[in-house]
Amino acid sequence: MKLRNIVIGMAFICQCSHTQAQKTPTGLKDHFKNYFTVGVAVSPQALKTDEAGLIVKEFNSMTPENAMKMGPIHPSENQYNWAGGDSIAAFAKRNGLKLRGHCLCWHNQTPRWLFIDSVTGKQVTKEVLLQRLKDHITTVVSRYKGTVYAWDVVNEAISDKKDEYMRPSLWYQICGEEFIEKAFRWAHEADPNALLFYNDYNEIDLVKREKIIRMIKDLKAKGVPISGVGLQGHWAINEPSKGQLDSTLKDFSSLGLNMQITELDISVYPKEHNARERQATDVDTSFSTEKEQKQIDVYKTCFELFKKYKKNISSVTFWNISDRHSWLDNFPVRGRKDYPLLFDAQLKPKKAYWEITKSESNK
Ligand code: G3I
Repeated sequence: MKLRNIVIGMAFICQCSHTQAQKTPTGLKDHFKNYFTVGVAVSPQALKTDEAGLIVKEFNSMTPENAMKMGPIHPSENQYNWAGGDSIAAFAKRNGLKLRGHCLCWHNQTPRWLFIDSVTGKQVTKEVLLQRLKDHITTVVSRYKGTVYAWDVVNEAISDKKDEYMRPSLWYQICGEEFIEKAFRWAHEADPNALLFYNDYNEIDLVKREKIIRMIKDLKAKGVPISGVGLQGHWAINEPSKGQLDSTLKDFSSLGLNMQITELDISVYPKEHNARERQATDVDTSFSTEKEQKQIDVYKTCFELFKKYKKNISSVTFWNISDRHSWLDNFPVRGRKDYPLLFDAQLKPKKAYWEITKSESNK
């Protein structure tokens, strides 16, 4: 009788712990806990929807998709718009997620006043522009000091053209290369504990990769406080190849800096770099089995290699939450639906999710 009771008791305990394990919420952050943090780019609006629950379950890092960029956060010279950034920062704090800041200096999404002298209406001088950059960086980084652990300080300063080094942005035209170095130094002064990143895209292209590496080496040689390099990771069903991505991660690892994948998504259309009009051939916008399989293959390659370089990669962030909304719905073709993420529009994990996490859940 006693033995029978013990057996029943043991069975009950086993059942309970099994149920407990099933109930324990596991998300991407848990699957990859031995490798890197897993982040997601968000808008303040998304945090008020059912996507908020998904964020907390799956991710342990966040990046504001637009709210902390210069245009949205600093719309006129003496006016900052903190509402969006603050609500994202509060959500991250409340739910124990890390927060990446994006981005302090970029040629895109700049406010109209930035490059113009309000009195003469002419372009500002280098001195004025650098002073404006300093004020911006000091104010924004100080506000989020202790909350934002890593900043994309300079975004996309390198040219995509083979025979051109720096992008000929207004920053570059007015200040030369100096704005890059200065931006890092001022960010460091405002928050000496924050990790400071140079962030760019298409590093799988060997020419662009070499230019980025050259710039980072120059900055390091000058003692500029740069902590790491952000590889955005806006890829597609036809790239990167395994060899391309492996050599990219290897080359950046050799810099000995922190490396993060900052804006990952895999478009279900072949990669195009420039915006274009919609054409007759763009009619098929379904998420077909063929597109799904190709996307799974690229996601698998990416995560296999991210894990291989886990010593160097500290974080992988997805650019948007689910296929409900992605910036790729409007790029390169406005209004062409894309499905680049791991969750579908109903917030259900896609097959790609299960494929990249399955080897982890068996450990
Ligand atoms: O907020 C305005 C709204 O007031 C206005 O009515 C509406 C009309 O078009 O536009 C809204 O702004 C849009 C903004 O996203 C917020 O939704 C801009 O037009 C639109 O251009 C902007 O796009 C963002 C894009 O950067 C700007 O270049 C995307 O959301 C954002 O995902 C994307 O993110 C960038 C990274 O920061 C850097 N790396 C590349 C990545 C993808 O382009």
